[in-house]
Amino acid sequence: MQYGHFDAAAREYVITRPDTPAPWANYLGSPAYGAIISNNAGGYSFVKSGAAGRLIRYRFNEQDRPGRYIYLRDDESGDYWSASWQPVGKPLGEYKSVCRHGTGYTVLEAEYAGARSEASYYVPHNADYEVWHIKVSNTGKAARKLSVFGFAEFTCESFYEQDQVNLQYTQFITRTYFKDKFILQTINENCLNAVNESRVETRFFGLAGANVTSYCGDRAAFLGAYRDYGNPVSVEKGRLDGTLNYNLNPCGALHTALALAPGESASLVFLLGQKREAEAKALIAHYEDPGLPEREINELKTYWRGKLSNLKVETPDENFNHMINTWNAYQCFITFIWSRAASLVYCGQRNGYGYRDTVQDIQGIIHLDPEMALEKIRFMVSAQVNHGGALPLVKYDHNPGHEDKPEDASYRTSTGHPSYRADDALWLFPTVWKYIAETGNTALLDENIPYADTGTDTLYKHLIKAIGFSLAHLGIHGLPAGLHADWNDCLRLGANGVSVFVAMQLYYAFEIMIRFAQHKKDAATEAQMAELKTKFGAVIEEHCWDSDRFVRGITEDDQVVGKPGDPEASLWLNPQSWSIISGFASPQRGRAVMDLVHEQLNTKYGARIMAPAYRRHAFDGALALLFNPSTKENGGIFLQTQGWLILAEALLGRGARAFEYYLESCPAAQNPIAETRLVEPYVYSQFTESVDSPFEGRSHVHWLTGTASTVMVGCVEGILGIRPDIDGLRLSPAIPPSWQFFSVEKTFRGRKLHIKVHNPEDREGGGQGGWKLTVNGTEAAGAYIPASMLRAENEIVLEM
Ligand code: GLC
Repeated sequence: MQYGHFDAAAREYVITRPDTPAPWANYLGSPAYGAIISNNAGGYSFVKSGAAGRLIRYRFNEQDRPGRYIYLRDDESGDYWSASWQPVGKPLGEYKSVCRHGTGYTVLEAEYAGARSEASYYVPHNADYEVWHIKVSNTGKAARKLSVFGFAEFTCESFYEQDQVNLQYTQFITRTYFKDKFILQTINENCLNAVNESRVETRFFGLAGANVTSYCGDRAAFLGAYRDYGNPVSVEKGRLDGTLNYNLNPCGALHTALALAPGESASLVFLLGQKREAEAKALIAHYEDPGLPEREINELKTYWRGKLSNLKVETPDENFNHMINTWNAYQCFITFIWSRAASLVYCGQRNGYGYRDTVQDIQGIIHLDPEMALEKIRFMVSAQVNHGGALPLVKYDHNPGHEDKPEDASYRTSTGHPSYRADDALWLFPTVWKYIAETGNTALLDENIPYADTGTDTLYKHLIKAIGFSLAHLGIHGLPAGLHADWNDCLRLGANGVSVFVAMQLYYAFEIMIRFAQHKKDAATEAQMAELKTKFGAVIEEHCWDSDRFVRGITEDDQVVGKPGDPEASLWLNPQSWSIISGFASPQRGRAVMDLVHEQLNTKYGARIMAPAYRRHAFDGALALLFNPSTKENGGIFLQTQGWLILAEALLGRGARAFEYYLESCPAAQNPIAETRLVEPYVYSQFTESVDSPFEGRSHVHWLTGTASTVMVGCVEGILGIRPDIDGLRLSPAIPPSWQFFSVEKTFRGRKLHIKVHNPEDREGGGQGGWKLTVNGTEAAGAYIPASMLRAENEIVLEM
């Protein structure tokens, strides 16, 4: 069944049935203030950190409650409902609703009993508070008396875990006050400064555009005993009783009573944030301007349109267009901004940036906003330790030059990360390469950037040190050690066991260093990297290839993981796709391993991370065994890997296959099977349950996942074939043969490219040698556009 559709012009996903199979959310805000909201207004907000800045409550893994609730009540009949279908949940025959999730805002429209409401939720651009703008209209023929109630359930304390667990403490540190047009909440109000790691904080929930008729600052008084958010006693009675909390649970609840003539509307605003009393007062005064919310939402639309405008595709596949132009791109930005800090699914306890995750996330936005990417590249490089390894977790208050590191007990206890991982620093190579190729900003290589612990080096030297870290951690056969984990969190290969995925990453790192060294005319480094590449290539060939596949690793006691004939986990996806991405596999071998993948790992929802799943034959250190078969790393469809799969097939020039994989896991293409998929049809999730599960196709852990960026790269670089390098740009699409034509509008180094690709011969890719490319009417050989050929505006035509 279908619960909604894409509105491409508005860049919105429109949910037309509110009883979606799971809460379908939008992620709003910025690093300063995040707000997650479902199509039924469930969700929560945080200041800077989901773990340590939690402002309002959400109960995970329950009924999508509570949230940003606005209740409406007919003061004559006593009937009441909510501006979102839930929590009151009127019968769907009588209650009509539409949810429009957009870029930076969510609008919930409802019609019930002769009244229409439109609640727009957003975090204004660059602001650190949120706005709930509600318009109520009397659509009936008689005058109406309607009440509007806004409700937000404050946490007692900003640390999520404390608020949820340490109730014998947190229930007794906070109270609320009523201040004219807002509820003010204080935490630890007697302390002038933080005592014992507590935080002295004030929050507010305010009303602008109407007068407060009644108020309440105590959750128990608002809800009433043995009641729920769906039937609060105070809403039922039509009046808030003025109780303010002193201990136990606070809330912000404000009521305004309206009289509306037929056809008349009222517009008012609820505001929520962590602000001092005077700031709250000023903000409320600011929002007395009734036109402000519309202007602010337009500002958000313009901002996001601008961000997303550097690449626009028009292909015969609508789903692909929706994802690449808006939703995959928006998800890439949100993931870039928040890393894995907050979710509607898990509580977001991680208080910082995962190294590998964030360095990969950067790749998803380079083609759209290279400046923003650059800032984060500098930041992540400054979290590399002087010996070349990278901090597995980079704290939000990261202080380059002064950080402790996994060698220090203090780092281990404060982050929970016991040691270095094998892959973290190696992700810098593809990311820095993509940034420099997109922008031509090779000067970055010579920029000085501090290390996390001590010292400073140019980026170029940082990269050489990253290779040095891998070379200093080799295991058996001289291959890179698996250490605490490689990309796969569930593989503990140890200090002597080795990871083939990391070997491929290292091989690729040598190649990228060769390109950079050539550019810098640093012949010594170039020769050294070339020699290492050859040497490691031979080792990979000797120890990582078995019969018809690349194996996944070798354990400390020399057991090969992922070899033919193993009863479980005999074929792994990543070493096959990365053999191509890294440039290690010849095209012929690349095609052969990818055919094997298609035959043994592919399913209708994508290719499995490995198969068969572990049940009885896992080696010590194969933590995937903990999961049910076909789940997550234990043979699930780990969606991040699909991006690499798409890219690998595209690099081989097999567009039909690349697109087949694309569609199998494309959220938009799964719009009609919402009940199977469960999560939003406009965002990627972390994984999909596969063939061993009775719920094959069910997807989990939405929004903040590396899937967003790898699939984006697989599509832009792979399927669309936009492959910049230091000197220009190659066009090498790998598309379904049925695509006769597609176009791309792209900004490249400040210039506009209007690219038109014609494919009259039903080709699928790989033949740029024989293709004809013209740039402003001049032919360019090998489908390659030297940057020097480009003007401000460029008509580029490729005949495949
Ligand atoms: C999760 C982690 C990521 C890891 C992946 C595979 O997505 O955030 O760091 O690479 O799982 O295990």
